[in-house]
Amino acid sequence: MRRIGFAGAMLLMVSAAASGQQPSPTAVNVMVDTAKAGPVIDRHIYGQFAEHLGHGIYDGIWVGPGSKIPNIRGYRSDVVNALKEIKVPVVRWPGGCFGDLYNWRDGIGLPAKRPVRINVHWGGVTEDNSFGTHEFLNFAELIGADAYVSGNVGSMTPLDNANWMEYMTSSEKSTLADERRKNGRAKPWTIKYFGVGNELWGCGGAMNAQYASDVSKRYAQFVNAPAAMGMTKVIAGPNGPNPNVYDYADTMMKNMPNMAMLSIHQYTFPHSRPPNSLPGTPYKRGPATGFDEDEWALTLSKGEAMEPLLSKLTAVMDRNDPNKRTMLAMDEWGTWYDQEPGSHPGFLYQQNSLRDAEVAALTLNIFHRHTDRVKMSNIAQMINVLQAMILTDKDKFLRTPTYWVYHMYVPFQGATPYAASVNGPSYSHGDYPIAQVDASVARGLDGKLYLSLVNTDPNRPAHVTTNLTGSATGRLLTGPAMDTHNTFDAPNRIVPVAYSGRNEGGKLVFDLPAKAVAVVQIQ
Ligand code: AHR
Repeated sequence: MRRIGFAGAMLLMVSAAASGQQPSPTAVNVMVDTAKAGPVIDRHIYGQFAEHLGHGIYDGIWVGPGSKIPNIRGYRSDVVNALKEIKVPVVRWPGGCFGDLYNWRDGIGLPAKRPVRINVHWGGVTEDNSFGTHEFLNFAELIGADAYVSGNVGSMTPLDNANWMEYMTSSEKSTLADERRKNGRAKPWTIKYFGVGNELWGCGGAMNAQYASDVSKRYAQFVNAPAAMGMTKVIAGPNGPNPNVYDYADTMMKNMPNMAMLSIHQYTFPHSRPPNSLPGTPYKRGPATGFDEDEWALTLSKGEAMEPLLSKLTAVMDRNDPNKRTMLAMDEWGTWYDQEPGSHPGFLYQQNSLRDAEVAALTLNIFHRHTDRVKMSNIAQMINVLQAMILTDKDKFLRTPTYWVYHMYVPFQGATPYAASVNGPSYSHGDYPIAQVDASVARGLDGKLYLSLVNTDPNRPAHVTTNLTGSATGRLLTGPAMDTHNTFDAPNRIVPVAYSGRNEGGKLVFDLPAKAVAVVQIQ
């Protein structure tokens, strides 16, 4: 195989750019070993997070049955239909930090009689609680997703959480189950996941690892659904970017050896909080669009930090739990930029571009490589908040490039991943070298082989040679600029297009454009 060193590649690129030509493609080799299968890609890795934050719930999912915006019993029809297409497997709700001050009783009963509170974490706006337990669980059922209810450990008691669970899941003749029936739901809902707190190290109570795990044990003990439901309790764990993440995880693993699932949060901020600045002090994370190549390379390299994070967490877990009883839920992750100029402070509304599609695809590929521990993830957040699938503005609606990655990756849900090695040059801009091409290969539930390819270089295409045979057809997502994005006026500026490989001498090869994500089915 021909390998072009970084210095050589740069020279080629500069001279090509000077002459106005397209840079020539790099040579990349992808070797797939179908004899080496990893544990199945749990479909819950494709989960979402929906918090009472900005227009994540109100106007994003819920417009109410009386709205002029087309809706199904109050849920936006455009949003419901789009989410069904990507087969959302699980939705986490109601927070986030919102959940740390949430009283579930505020969100049941006649909507007009529900109390109005202040959403202190997110913009200080009023929360009328018109979207509560019934509205969320019916929504999850409507889109065919499992429910992941995140409990309040920060500011409520174990009994409050236990009562909430009984209200949602009991089929008995109890006062709480009867109250649910009186409020319009006869059958218990199925709760597949319950979050024992959120960010106990931060907005969930500012606890150290020892205290957090002591508290979590107590809360986890009292919150139980009927055994037949097979509910998994997800224990809130550490923050990925925090230097103490591994020690924190280690303490939790030691103190809670019977945990079914430990959760981690890992956001991709191009620019982090300046050292020693006080929490809450505003700072620049970087713009969502209109950025230069430095920001592109920096963001992608920060997104790639998920790989060492998972490898090191796995090592900590393997030491404490060699029989792999505890699984990982990456239940908040995604890009986090400066919010859009002019948007409501505290609403975390940001545009979503081709760069976000790349971060999503690279991250999903990383999850495919860590399926021995990672069994769930919830990208933050589903609608109108941070790295969203969908943006809405009154009756307007658009699917983001991140949505299209999830659309293209549907065949990976429940698929069996194979080892794939990639040999090729780095994409190296400034101080942020990453592999130019990333690949993931898996056998889908339909028995077909699927290959995803990501080209991280915004300038240079790649000629990808594989050891796969047959033919390959699928879709490609790319755009003319690094920040190509959809707007309400041009909602289809970036959408997947048909794409295929070629058979050269019995091997499948691909012309992979610069800054692109492709998924193909191999026949
Ligand atoms: O997703 C936004 C916020 O980020 C969540 O509320 C919190 O858990 C995290 O810090």
